[in-house]
Amino acid sequence: MEGLTPSLRLLCRIEDIPDGGSRGFPPPPGGFTGLFAIRQGERVLIYVNSCPHLGVPLDWAPDRFLSADGSLIVCATHGAEFAIADGRCLRGPCRGERLEAVAAEIRDGAVLVPHDAGL
Ligand code: FES
Repeated sequence: MEGLTPSLRLLCRIEDIPDGGSRGFPPPPGGFTGLFAIRQGERVLIYVNSCPHLGVPLDWAPDRFLSADGSLIVCATHGAEFAIADGRCLRGPCRGERLEAVAAEIRDGAVLVPHDAGL
């Protein structure tokens, strides 16, 4: 991508994330944690795919990170529930802890994240 800051990498295009839904991303080469993204219209929130409780991935199936009504992030392992807006655990064994948020930049529909995010 032209003009891309060297410290950023292209995660995906915004239209690759379903509006109101979520999508997981494997770690970049050499990494092992990965990221997930939630889209709300033109807004995209990105977190490291690691539960603060045990450090395991949150998804219960590929790209599935949200509650049935899409209002919360849910960890598949013990059911902890997190606020989408800030990743704070509202209920579960890690209550009060937070998911690690990743600062995303959207440029011409491209979703960019720091190069080392999700390693
Ligand atoms: S590992 Fe996520 S709630 Fe226990």
